[in-house]
Amino acid sequence: SVQGAAQVLVASNRGPVSYAVQEDGSLSPKRGGGGLVSGLSAIGPEAGALWVCSALSDGDREAVRQGVGEDGVRMLAIPADVHADAYNGIANSVLWFVHHLLYQTPLEPAFDAEFRRQWGSYETYNRAFAEALAEEAGEGAAVLVQDYHLCLVPGMLRELRPDLRISHFSHTPWAPVDYFRMLPDDIAGQVLRGMLGADRLGFLTRRWADAFTACATEFADGLGETRIGVHGLGADADFLRARSHEADVEERIVALREEIGAGRKTIVRVDRTELSKNIVRGLLAYRRLLESRPEWRERVVHVAFAYPSRQDLAVYRDYTASVQRLADEINSQYATPGWTPVVLHVKDDFARSLAAYRLADVALVNPIRDGMNLVAKEVPLVSDEGCALVLSREAGAYEELGDDAIVVNPYDVEQTAAALHEALTMPAHERAERAKRLTAAATALPPAQWFLDQLNALKAVSR
Ligand code: G6P
Repeated sequence: SVQGAAQVLVASNRGPVSYAVQEDGSLSPKRGGGGLVSGLSAIGPEAGALWVCSALSDGDREAVRQGVGEDGVRMLAIPADVHADAYNGIANSVLWFVHHLLYQTPLEPAFDAEFRRQWGSYETYNRAFAEALAEEAGEGAAVLVQDYHLCLVPGMLRELRPDLRISHFSHTPWAPVDYFRMLPDDIAGQVLRGMLGADRLGFLTRRWADAFTACATEFADGLGETRIGVHGLGADADFLRARSHEADVEERIVALREEIGAGRKTIVRVDRTELSKNIVRGLLAYRRLLESRPEWRERVVHVAFAYPSRQDLAVYRDYTASVQRLADEINSQYATPGWTPVVLHVKDDFARSLAAYRLADVALVNPIRDGMNLVAKEVPLVSDEGCALVLSREAGAYEELGDDAIVVNPYDVEQTAAALHEALTMPAHERAERAKRLTAAATALPPAQWFLDQLNALKAVSR
């Protein structure tokens, strides 16, 4: 059989670049976003590396058709309906929900015939990756498979190419065993055995690694030959410091200052429009702060920026609408001439997010559950004055930042409101000291090192 030449391969659903079709029919490239892409961009300098990803947009599919692309990137044009079943139906509606504890369990999940049909697409989609990787990889190459979209790939690839060194990294939490067992037994087994086809499995925290091990013990024959590693992705300080002082960010700072008003404190949050980010309870806590501590009225503004995400799913659209509704409600309840309590923007604008980071007095990061949460690591680092951090104990970042954050139970709105008050009233010197320590912890494992650590560990595997 024909064998490729790549010595290092990365596989992920979302790749480093995506194409849009312009009005004149030409294709314009745009860099992809999200924690996974930020971490893996360190692959760039690796010689002979190949990144295999899905064609996601119409532009991407057109690029594949025309043979347009970047060196070192191969996009797979999986049929749009198969991709939609795998990505929306299984990856984002089942596996994401399981790992983030998002089901409303009296009504869902219901693993029915439609689920089985979508699962078939998920297998097809994973097989397309396994086959492409088998084709591109050189003898003994290192293949780094990413995330819940591709958990069957290690097992499938192992069968095609026993010579390869294969790892899988989870950018999400892992479900506790009592929640994981909601999956039909055969599916649970397939997920676990698929991943256990890898030589190494990586997780963002010890907690998620231990949860996986518990599931593997209950639903498969334990870990077998597979090694587990914990690699807590950190923030990219050099990039963020430089990027957050560029002209477009400075411009947005001027505009945002105008919107906030002089002499006011700023509570900042930046998320994808994502159910697990807990934006609604964050707003409820902020409303409670204004209600219980009237001294903050007109003296604080909550800046909430959200990047539209997964809007093909009705529950995500509904959630985004609830966030918008609650923000409007708070504004109509408390606004005065010259003061808007909540500044909410649902739009993809990285420069504006960095502007908000720089102006932050307080960062609010209160997810229900989160693999890591890079925003928690980025805001203390970028903020001009060194912000205070209100942090959920259910975010992976809590393991590294917990000591210097104000820690909350994300379900406890009353406690979160009190934490916001505490953060707003933290003495300046204490805030600055804590921000310094938060920054040190947040940058302990920058993306390039995070990637190389895994690559080196994988290369050291003997086959
Ligand atoms: C999470 C996943 C990543 C993904 C990101 C954005 O962080 O773990 O793999 O890149 O969400 O999600 P999306 O569905 O837009 O790729």
